[in-house]
Amino acid sequence: MKTFNIAFFASHGGSNMQAILDAIKDGRLKSNPAVLITNNSKSGACEKAAAFGLLVYHVSSVTHPDDNERAKFIIEILEKFKIDLIVLAGYMKKLPSEVIARMNGRVLNIHPALLPKFGGEGMYGINVHKAVIEAGNKISGATVHLVESEYDRGRILLQKEVVVLADDSPETLAERVLKAEHKLYPNVIELLEKEEIIT
Ligand code: GRF
Repeated sequence: MKTFNIAFFASHGGSNMQAILDAIKDGRLKSNPAVLITNNSKSGACEKAAAFGLLVYHVSSVTHPDDNERAKFIIEILEKFKIDLIVLAGYMKKLPSEVIARMNGRVLNIHPALLPKFGGEGMYGINVHKAVIEAGNKISGATVHLVESEYDRGRILLQKEVVVLADDSPETLAERVLKAEHKLYPNVIELLEKEEIIT
């Protein structure tokens, strides 16, 4: 059994972070959520993190215009809180490669499709679900994968399928995939804690 000191990175609603925080609150997960780092101080994720008592750091090109300084500040936070797991949960910025390198393969991301399909350049948010429907795929889903400096390219850890319905719009599909994400992300962390997934 392992436990992790988690740093969340989020830019928007923060519902995936919330699903993990709920699993921690319920006692299902044993890890310690330490901080939220966000590039968007007005995000729903900030409110959710604060409601849970997490420290929130706003780190963006506004607070730290210089790329190196920004990366340095993120690393300082990670060291201060002895972070050994980064959970990207709807983080719309590229994580500096120095940060990825220092985490030794302990950076997770969730993507709202079954990678390696529908990943890469431009494949975020509603675009992903539009592309799935346009391609006529009958099954979509969500993927949790390791992050390497090339986004959506790291090893796939676990996926959860979602059936695409004949009358789905990108929005209705997005809603069901998001629900699947809320189950998948805590599952992956549980499997990491139980060492049933090794990174
Ligand atoms: C999710 O669909 C996730 O797959 C993608 O961004 C969205 C974040 O949603 N990376 P939320 O902020 O967790 O509500």
